[in-house]
Amino acid sequence: MHITFKIRRGAGKSQRYQCYKVDVRPGWTVLDALHEIKWNQDGTLTFRRSCRHGICGSCAMQINGLNALACETQIKDLKRKPIVVDPLPGFKVIKDLAVDMDPFFELLERVKPYLINDALPPAKERIQSPEDFAKISSAINCILCSACTSSCPSYWADKSYLGPAALLKAYRYIFDTRDQGSEERINALDNQHGLWRCHTIINCVDACPKDLAPTEAISRLKNRIVSEKY
Ligand code: SF4
Ligand code: F3S
Ligand code: FES
Repeated sequence: MHITFKIRRGAGKSQRYQCYKVDVRPGWTVLDALHEIKWNQDGTLTFRRSCRHGICGSCAMQINGLNALACETQIKDLKRKPIVVDPLPGFKVIKDLAVDMDPFFELLERVKPYLINDALPPAKERIQSPEDFAKISSAINCILCSACTSSCPSYWADKSYLGPAALLKAYRYIFDTRDQGSEERINALDNQHGLWRCHTIINCVDACPKDLAPTEAISRLKNRIVSEKY
């Protein structure tokens, strides 16, 4: 079956759409079609990908107007044709579908995305009960694809706003019973560019390819800050 892909090319003022007709095979994802274009039609088409299995988070882009992973989006499930592919909104485009991810990872660094615990480690490992692990287990599945932050209007309005991905990461450590860095993380959250910028718009939940719920995590963080600090 031949399907037309309308892909945003270039960067800045030179951005334009370019159409490619692809002979799509059964079971193909959007990433398969992009590979077909790059390898057999136009080697200059630029996009990121690595694992091809929804793990590395590098192939997030906008497909028919919604943020998604190209490697997880089945072409047969897309009703609107031609299929329109854009770079993720909210980030500077480097070329074609590749955006500058540095600002996204800088936001992440602000919440110290690692375990903080100055106590001497036990001989084997820091034990956690299954009940305590359950509190953070879904947040651990975040693959840092940035589809959520890229879809958040509060982030579009304030590029210093931490955004849902960084806030979910903060939740993952603040609610980890082995972590001792809550106080410094909460200080990074409780300011004008922190979690109060979230207005529960919920685009982030719709955009997440891993069915995570940053909004719920943000709400629990707000409750915790109010009860601990105010
Ligand atoms: Fe991607 Fe979901 Fe993690 Fe956001 S929360 S970075 S959408 S996996
Ligand atoms: Fe943005 Fe999600 Fe909050 S879309 S405003 S972080 S609920
Ligand atoms: Fe790794 Fe799509 S290529 S998530």
